[in-house]
Amino acid sequence: MPKTAVQKGQEKQPVLRVEDLHTWFEVRRMGFFKVGDVRALDGVTFDLHAGETISIVGESGCGKSTLAKTILGIHSPTKGKIYFEGRDLSTLDKQGWKEYRSNIGYIQQDPYGALPTFMNVKRILEEPMKINGITDKAERARRIRQVLEEVKLAPIEDFLPKFPHMLSGGQQQRLVIARAMILEPKLLIADEPVSMLDASVRIEILQLLQGLQRKHNLAIIYITHDLSTVRYFSERIFAMYGAKIIEKSSTQALLKEALHPYTQALFEATSDPDVENLKTFKDVPTGEPPSLMNPPAGCRFHPRCRQMIKGLCDQQIPPEFLVRDEHSAACWLYKDYPEHAAG
Ligand SMILES: Nc1ncnc2c1ncn2[C@@H]1O[C@H](COP(=O)(O)OP(=O)(O)O)[C@@H](O)[C@H]1O
Ligand SMILES: [Mg+2]
Repeated sequence: MPKTAVQKGQEKQPVLRVEDLHTWFEVRRMGFFKVGDVRALDGVTFDLHAGETISIVGESGCGKSTLAKTILGIHSPTKGKIYFEGRDLSTLDKQGWKEYRSNIGYIQQDPYGALPTFMNVKRILEEPMKINGITDKAERARRIRQVLEEVKLAPIEDFLPKFPHMLSGGQQQRLVIARAMILEPKLLIADEPVSMLDASVRIEILQLLQGLQRKHNLAIIYITHDLSTVRYFSERIFAMYGAKIIEKSSTQALLKEALHPYTQALFEATSDPDVENLKTFKDVPTGEPPSLMNPPAGCRFHPRCRQMIKGLCDQQIPPEFLVRDEHSAACWLYKDYPEHAAG
C-alpha cells in the first residue's frame, strides 16, 4: 500500500527538535536587585534524527552545557520549545517527564563527580531501574550484565562490588556510560565526555560510544571544545558562538571548507588530526568571547572578525544562510544565499 504524506512525514519525524530555544539566567545584586540576564542560550534551533550523531563545538562559556541541561530539563527554557518524538516537553506531566528522562542518557565531563561515592557498581546500575519500576530482579540482573559487557568492564563479577573510587578515570566513565544506557535510551547527551581523561583512554571511550551508537541506533549529541575528535565521530557539526549556533554542516563538508570566519579560525588552529597532539580553543581566535549579559550588537563575532562589514555586521544579527546542501552559516558574508528555514 502506498504511504500517505502523513505516514512519510511521521517517518521523518526527528527524535529531538529544539526550536528557538533561549535559556537566560537572572543576575541579582546582593541576591535581590535584578541587574540583568546572562543569555546562556539565545535562540537555538535544530533537528536530530534517530541514529544520528551531531557534534556541538565552541569555546568555553558559549552555552554548550546550558543547551545540554535545558534539553535534559535541568534548566527550564526562558523561551522556545523542545519536542521529543513530536511531543512538546512543556505539555508533559510528571509521568511524561519520567518517561522522557528514561529515554535520554547523560554523560558528563567529570565521571567521578557524576557517581555517588557511597554506592557500588551494582547499586549504581540498579537504582535507575528501580526508580523506573523495573521490579523483575532477573531482568535487572540481565541488563546489568549486558551493559557492563557493552562498556567492557570485565570480568563483571569483579566490578559489581566496587565503589567509584576503586576505579580508574576511564573505568569510571565506562560506568557512567553503562548507567546512561541501562534504561535503553534513544538519545545520549555526552557533554565533554573525554576532556578530563588521559589522552590514552580518550579514543577508547569515543570508540565505545560509536559502537553503542551503531548497535542501538542511538541518537547522540556530542559536545566538545576539541575539534580534533569530531572528525572521527559525527555526521553533522554545529558550531556555537556567544550562545547561538553560527554554522551547521555535515562533517565532511565542514572538513573541506568552513564558512563562518569563526569556524575557519578554529579549523586553522586544529590542523593536526593526531589526537595525541590535541589542540584546543585556548589559542584561537584572538580576542575575548562576547559578554552574554551585554552581547555586542549585530553579529556577536564581529569585534573579533577579520572580515567584518562595517554598518552591517556590527548592527544587524545575521540570519542563517543556506550556502550549500546541508551547510549553513549565520554570517553576512553569505547574504546573497537563501535564508535557511533552520532545522
Ligand atoms: N546556573 C547558571 N547560572 C548563571 N549563569 C550560568 C549558569 N550556568 C551557566 N551560566 C553561564 O552561562 C554561560 C554559558 O555557560 P555554559 O553553558 O556552561 O558554557 P560551555 O558549556 O559552553 O562552557 C556562561 O557565561 C556561564 O557562566
Ligand atoms: Mg560546558
